[in-house]
Amino acid sequence: MAVVVIVGAQWGDEGKGKFIDYLAKQADVVVRGQGGNNAGHTVVVDTKKYALHLIPSGILYDDTVNVLGNGIVFDPSGFFEEYDALKAQGVAVENIKISSRAHVVLPYHRELDGLAEAARGDAKIGTTKKGIGPCYMDKVARTGIRLLDLLKEDRFAEKLRAQVDQKNQIAQALYGVKPFDYQAIYDEYSGYAARLKGLVCDTVAYLNDELEAGKNILLEGAQGTLLDIDLGTYPYVTSSHPTAGGFTVGTGLAPNRIDNVLGITKAYTTRVGAGPFVTEQDNAIGDRIRQQGNEFGVTTGRPRRCGWLDLVIVRHAVRVNGLTAIALSLLDVLSGFDELKICRAYLIDGIECVDFPADLADLAAAQPIYQTFAGWSEDISGCTSYDQLPENARRYLAYIESYLGVPIAFISVGAKRSQTIIRQALF
Ligand code: GDP
Ligand code: IMO
Ligand code: MG
Repeated sequence: MAVVVIVGAQWGDEGKGKFIDYLAKQADVVVRGQGGNNAGHTVVVDTKKYALHLIPSGILYDDTVNVLGNGIVFDPSGFFEEYDALKAQGVAVENIKISSRAHVVLPYHRELDGLAEAARGDAKIGTTKKGIGPCYMDKVARTGIRLLDLLKEDRFAEKLRAQVDQKNQIAQALYGVKPFDYQAIYDEYSGYAARLKGLVCDTVAYLNDELEAGKNILLEGAQGTLLDIDLGTYPYVTSSHPTAGGFTVGTGLAPNRIDNVLGITKAYTTRVGAGPFVTEQDNAIGDRIRQQGNEFGVTTGRPRRCGWLDLVIVRHAVRVNGLTAIALSLLDVLSGFDELKICRAYLIDGIECVDFPADLADLAAAQPIYQTFAGWSEDISGCTSYDQLPENARRYLAYIESYLGVPIAFISVGAKRSQTIIRQALF
């Protein structure tokens, strides 16, 4: 029996989907604890590619139960689109449980997300426009609609009416757009409610029962450490807690139940959306990484900003998540560079620092201090053991391990399950 957390150690898109799918083979239950369909997790099985947004990446194993925990925000339209698409691809979607406590994303959340972004102009965050922020705003304001409300006709009608009235006042006063149509939303969501009945349950009780029964539970991180609303690059963050601590409140599994925390770390750094990025290579190097790594968003299709590996970020991730191991992903993308750089510290106002700054102005002013490494020219996508990696690749990995003081348990050299080098078991 073990509880393993997988988190993104950077700004998201680190290859979590691949590792969740990989480790799900040993798990009885896979659980999302926060965020919503802003996530885009890619899983490649043989020649088939799956893009998962809200449904956990354990779904490709018939016997694994996939849970959407209480901390997520649930968009039924996005969920059923994904659910139906997976079913059409021949995936067994029966093993899904959704928390009755999860908050529901409504059409006005999505619309207000887009309107707020447009109003921010040059200061826009670059959200996915899935309504995530506005839905969490209602949750924190204690006016949100939960799945347990949606499933009760009269209660849903009453709460929705109050919310549509309030959102119409906001939409009118701030943006001058046409009002939201209560009846249309009610009818659409009543249809979802009928489909959701068999899927919604008390997942807090279920997960604790499973834990007590000795099951292996894999907690599926979405987004990444620097997108955490408290610990990330505020305000260029998402509205939830993608860090390890977010799982305890987001699933109802207590902190002392967690055995291992695996930080998925790209061999370089990427970011979608706005905000300072110290090691960004807005040049031919960044273009090459983007092209070799196919760095385009799964959810929005946006080109990802690319740069060198920044260990100031990953050190922060090690500390705030309590990482017990690292999975280093997309190492194959770095093949063919004459030289590679790793940022080991920032220079801010003439002072060298390794603590990730709280103030974005400091981050924007930070100059990277690099350690330079000789590259390797070999194609490493077929390597199946550490020893098969070129010496320069091993040097690159050894530096990361010694800098962070955390073992690299897995190395990923391609998107497929088979392209994974295992150095340490987690379950
Ligand atoms: P996630 O959001 O953390 O699950 O990551 P994404 O799926 O958004 O982005 C990671 C991308 O890298 C996907 O297209 C994966 O198929 C791909 N990928 C994952 N691991 C590797 C790897 O080791 N090498 C290569 N070349 N691609 C990988
Ligand atoms: P996965 O799980 C990368 C980013 C958005 C934006 C900020 C806020 O695939 O790693 P939001 O719509 O959440 O309010 O947007 O967060 N963002 C992600 N970036 N990967 C993700 O998920 C992300 N989810 C949100 O680009 O900068
Ligand atoms: Mg992604």
